[in-house]
Amino acid sequence: EQDCFILAVETSCDETSAAVVKNGTEVLSNLIASQIETHRAFGGVVPEVASRKHVESITRMLEEAVREAGIPPESLSAIAVTEGPGLVGALLVGIMAAKSLAFALDKPLIGVHHIAGHIYANHLMEDILYPSMALVVSGGHTELVLMEREGCFKLLGHTRDDAVGEAYDKVARALGFPYPGGPYVDKLAGEAAEAEELPRAWLEPDSYDFSLSGLKSAVLNAVNQHRMRGKDGYQPAIARGFQESVIEVLVEKAVRAVRATGSRQLLLCGGVAANRGLRAALSERCVSEGISLLIPPLAYCTDNAAMIGAAAYLKWKSGEFSSLGLKAEPSLSL
Ligand code: KG4
Ligand code: ZN
Repeated sequence: EQDCFILAVETSCDETSAAVVKNGTEVLSNLIASQIETHRAFGGVVPEVASRKHVESITRMLEEAVREAGIPPESLSAIAVTEGPGLVGALLVGIMAAKSLAFALDKPLIGVHHIAGHIYANHLMEDILYPSMALVVSGGHTELVLMEREGCFKLLGHTRDDAVGEAYDKVARALGFPYPGGPYVDKLAGEAAEAEELPRAWLEPDSYDFSLSGLKSAVLNAVNQHRMRGKDGYQPAIARGFQESVIEVLVEKAVRAVRATGSRQLLLCGGVAANRGLRAALSERCVSEGISLLIPPLAYCTDNAAMIGAAAYLKWKSGEFSSLGLKAEPSLSL
């Protein structure tokens, strides 16, 4: 059989990324231009600024990804791109670039769902066992997704308000950290001697949904109380209390979902999968429950094009191509 080389593009939020993935698993290149420094001054991602930054970087990322992969553009098998969900202007930049290349090189175009990409980042390392349960935790998403078989997604539960990463970033901001603050909260929580008492949002007993806004408000209240009392050094305990609350609910619901669906594997993915506390707690719990757990290496947790190439490979195998009329779908569902 002939090898498959997919050139993948990801521009759904604030990273401009291009990668070449061989046979869905081997990353030949994975270039990422991060816009974090640009957006930091605004305390979050500014959509219009993100689009412009993508335009500035996309050509260079594509050129470098192909050069680093060491294969001539003619031998690419397909061009893949994130079609949604994400910021519409940001998505459009990647889509236009991918379409132009597909047209100029006469290669098939493959539109990929951003979350399918996050999930299949796990496939870059190891074969996935089905049925499989994915816990998706990122800046924009918090979901439990059941895959009964390859490429088939069923949404079991999702956040009713803030995404986990979003809550991390807001808590980080209240504690005085720059955007995106998730990693700072993670680090501080790991160093804390004690934990602030904070609520857990279990919702209805049989629900796989999540809710982060109550916890976020409780954190903001606690910060204000400490400030009013002129207390100092309260930040570590709040970071740890917040992290413990988030992790306890995520781990419990994920394990329950695995059990209820007879899943053979749990896949952790998305930017918050980089969280050390979550990785440790989930690993420990899965060992004691005898559940097989996959977590991508850090580089493939946050937004990157290699994961889009991994997900695109499944579509390539089944000949599921997109037309050059592919549109950006800011709220595409799985
Ligand atoms: O997947 P991602 O790169 O972008 C989206 O698709 O949303 O996720 C970014 C999110 C940010 O909210 C960031 O604060 C969070 O992931 N994050 C973390 C950690 N590393 C990144 N949150 C908690 N702990 C971390 N170590
Ligand atoms: Zn993402």
